[in-house]
Amino acid sequence: MTWNDGLTIGVDAIDNQHKQLCKAIDDLYIACESGKGRAEIISTLDFLRDYTIKHFADEQVLQKKCGYPKCDQHKALHEAFLAQVVTLRQQVIDSGAGLVEVNKVVRLVTDWLYNHIKKVDVEIAQYVK
Ligand code: FEO
Repeated sequence: MTWNDGLTIGVDAIDNQHKQLCKAIDDLYIACESGKGRAEIISTLDFLRDYTIKHFADEQVLQKKCGYPKCDQHKALHEAFLAQVVTLRQQVIDSGAGLVEVNKVVRLVTDWLYNHIKKVDVEIAQYVK
């Protein structure tokens, strides 16, 4: 999920974290495509999970601070996404989910994040400004 300027919402702290998330998904994709071992895929999933947790926490604090009115709905979306990442990581650990399967989920995660930034996160900027 290569970053592009169309993903900018206009809040630097959030945009910078989104760039890191895009890179984490890119790294996961590359680890799958280049046939890296399970250990490296798990390591990239660990980073994606940990950074997602940090980003969502930071973003939720900002939402409350700026009076964004849809905090609860937004938090529920975050939790659903995080659950996907955690489930994928666990599948890789428990059953060594195949690369094809992991690849499919990477695409789902990419689509989710792209749509979330473009359609949901972008609303936050109206309250920060
Ligand atoms: Fe940037 Fe709502 O996640």
